[in-house]
Amino acid sequence: MASAVPSTLLFCLVLLVSPYLGCSYHTSYTHGGMHYVLRSNRDHRQPKQTPTCSSVHSGRSSSDGVPVLHRLSPCSPLGAARSQEQTSVADVFHRDALRLCSLFGEDNHGDPAPGPSAPGGGVSVPNKGDPIETLPGAFEYHVVAGFGTPVQEFSVGFDTLTPGATLLKCTPCAAGGEPCDPAFEPSASSSLAQVPCGSTDCPFHGCSGPSCTLSVTINNTLLGNVTFVTDTLTLTSTTTVENFRFACLEAGFRPSDNSTGILDLSRNSHSLASRAPSSPGTVAFSYCLPSSPGTVGFLSIGAPKPELSGRKAIYTQLRSNPDNGNLYVVELVGLGLGGPDLSIPPPALAGDTILDLHTTFTYLRPEVYAALRDNFRKWMTQYPAAPSLGRLDTCYNFTGLNIFMVPVVTLKLDGGADVDLSMDEMMFFPDPDNHFSIACLAFAAAPANAREAAVIGNRAQSSMEVVYDVSGGRVGFVPYRC
Ligand SMILES: *[C@@H]1O[C@H](CO)[C@@H](O)[C@H](O)[C@H]1NC(C)=O
Ligand SMILES: *[C@@H]1O[C@H](CO)[C@@H](O)[C@H](O)[C@H]1NC(C)=O
Ligand SMILES: *[C@@H]1O[C@H](CO)[C@@H](O)[C@H](O)[C@H]1NC(C)=O
Ligand SMILES: *[C@@H]1O[C@H](CO)[C@@H](O)[C@H](O)[C@H]1NC(C)=O
Repeated sequence: MASAVPSTLLFCLVLLVSPYLGCSYHTSYTHGGMHYVLRSNRDHRQPKQTPTCSSVHSGRSSSDGVPVLHRLSPCSPLGAARSQEQTSVADVFHRDALRLCSLFGEDNHGDPAPGPSAPGGGVSVPNKGDPIETLPGAFEYHVVAGFGTPVQEFSVGFDTLTPGATLLKCTPCAAGGEPCDPAFEPSASSSLAQVPCGSTDCPFHGCSGPSCTLSVTINNTLLGNVTFVTDTLTLTSTTTVENFRFACLEAGFRPSDNSTGILDLSRNSHSLASRAPSSPGTVAFSYCLPSSPGTVGFLSIGAPKPELSGRKAIYTQLRSNPDNGNLYVVELVGLGLGGPDLSIPPPALAGDTILDLHTTFTYLRPEVYAALRDNFRKWMTQYPAAPSLGRLDTCYNFTGLNIFMVPVVTLKLDGGADVDLSMDEMMFFPDPDNHFSIACLAFAAAPANAREAAVIGNRAQSSMEVVYDVSGGRVGFVPYRC
């Protein structure tokens, strides 16, 4: 009798035997520590949140905050998508390497900063060359922010790992009057105020006079002036910060992308995070990074606590680094794979773990990465291996399969915060539209000299809301938020 066959089994059989090999759609689910991906003849993806680009730019009404765009978003005013459609893995590794080097490399510990340096959470802008340029090419994600009165809008990066100040390209851009669009025009803002030397807002000790300016000279050539000012910052119709201090970069400073500046979300007392309106129902800020250039995320300053809107967040303790007071630090205490914990000796994980916005992959100490990689390979022996892609050395070829399974990677953070990564957060698909192709574990070994225990990249954070409850001393994760 036909009714003896449970309909779900029938459904599975149909799925498994159907010759859908020509189509690349998939449906996926997670069960018992495994991600399952099934070939499907229909496009099961969520309807893409591709608001028209005009709604992104005028997206100041978004309830979740200001829209966040990837630099390769077709809607990004930076225009990078015109010259490059997809991220190549070589490009991503190059950017990651420069980013890791600029954050943690020896370069970063060179000349003493002109301002008070850490541990007070000081400013170190600029210690050499172009502070925007040193963060190469530069930011994966941007928002549109308004400065001054009337508002002048610019596409700016945002970062939790800044040198401790919001930076903005300002006029004059060159002594010789070269054109410099886009740049903030201080003289056109009625709310702008100079920061006098000697003020607590002026980090330059050597300066004197009514404006906190430092001329940056390299090899006897004036690179440009850095002037601290305060003005109104407008992010959304409800997020306005008055007398917000930032550094105007005049002349010579040229970001290597088309952005105009960096919003500082560090722990520095002048950062946007520190200036967020505080109330018992809000946190300093939260963000959700879009999982692909075609989707839109959000940045919310003074974001509502997720629990108040019925969302469950997984929290871990927020720490600070005594040597760099601007840094947010969490602690990775273990890794889970397919459910059980990997056996990793605790000293291998000792030290700071950083959540970085502008590093793509997740970097672990070599011995920790080796434990993850070796165990992952044991789970995956049934699938054909594919050649390494850059430094991603654990790759598989799912071409021609109808179904495959991948053990879930869990980031185990201090305090019982187990963050299960989704398929797209833990694997890198060079062809993101076709999961039945090549996929690599999106983790790599950190440089052997790295002091940090781990740098959790943006891929692992994508599509979840990361909540910085700074006054509550914790960082939270809410899955599937953008
Ligand atoms: C900057 O914008 C221009 C024009 O929109 C574009 O052609 C160029 O590729 C962009 N540069 C970068 C580095 O993205
Ligand atoms: C930089 O500042 C110095 C002294 O404040 C000033 O004389 C000079 O004109 C400024 N240069 C530029 C390019 O703004
Ligand atoms: C300064 O000059 C030296 C020697 O001419 C050169 O090696 C160095 O790269 C220059 N530095 C910068 C930042 O241009
Ligand atoms: C993946 O497998 C397919 C079919 O077996 C093959 O045609 C293709 O060349 C493989 N790709 C790589 C990168 O190994």
